[in-house]
Amino acid sequence: MKLSIAAKDILLGTSLDSKLQNLDKLEFDLHEQNPLPLNPGRDATISFSDNQIKFPKKKSLKVESNRGLALHFFANHELLAIEMMAAALYCYPSRNEEDIKFKKGILSALKDEQKHFRLYCERMNQLGVGFGDFPLNDFFWRQMIHLKSPQEFFALMSLTFEMANLDFCIHYKEIFEELDDEETLKVLNTVLEDEITHVSIGRYWLEQWKPNGSLWDYYRKLLPEKITPSRAKGMIFSREIREKAGLESAFIDELESYKDDFKITNRKEW
Ligand SMILES: [Fe+2]
Ligand SMILES: [Fe+2]
Repeated sequence: MKLSIAAKDILLGTSLDSKLQNLDKLEFDLHEQNPLPLNPGRDATISFSDNQIKFPKKKSLKVESNRGLALHFFANHELLAIEMMAAALYCYPSRNEEDIKFKKGILSALKDEQKHFRLYCERMNQLGVGFGDFPLNDFFWRQMIHLKSPQEFFALMSLTFEMANLDFCIHYKEIFEELDDEETLKVLNTVLEDEITHVSIGRYWLEQWKPNGSLWDYYRKLLPEKITPSRAKGMIFSREIREKAGLESAFIDELESYKDDFKITNRKEW
């Protein structure tokens, strides 16, 4: 099957089966820009909801169903990542070798997101929660309309959302370790390892594409108007994990010291 067809099917297909379809043996076809849909396809069992629910408080995570709820949030982020990556593969044109090369990176990340979604769901089910049992928010998806180029996509997806996810993963790994929840810890370890690679893919391409000047300045210019670099940080800030993803210390310094009104310490969830 052609990559653009598979990506379109993930994006517009309404069932979890289409989102999680096998992506081995795809042909990297050439195509022009395709239109971004207003929303990804989603049937009633997994549709977006405006009802906001709160991420469970740390103390409440001793209760299994609350841990299931926490994993429900994480799984939703994975599904949104699957759809946004499919949108990037389908909508941005493939005109040459370089386009195909960066799309190979996105495709490999997308496959990991499918794996993460499955792992979170399996664990969540063991804890008595099914995907779709709670409202699903669309915050990440709503940013997609602002990402007009692969450059902007990598700046927001890899160097912002996935980068923050590194901190969140470390943070929740500690919590689940305290809870002696080995099964969830295993899932978080897998996710963290993969996400380091995903951040690194975005970092690599933005370094290739950046004009003279710092990666930081280039990154700032590429971010959508309402998203600040604070979104690239979690409740904790790990330099080490960013170094593992290949970020240079000048970029990490800028990010670490960056401050604005978006109070990271007040974040209860990611
Ligand atoms: Fe993921
Ligand atoms: Fe990722």
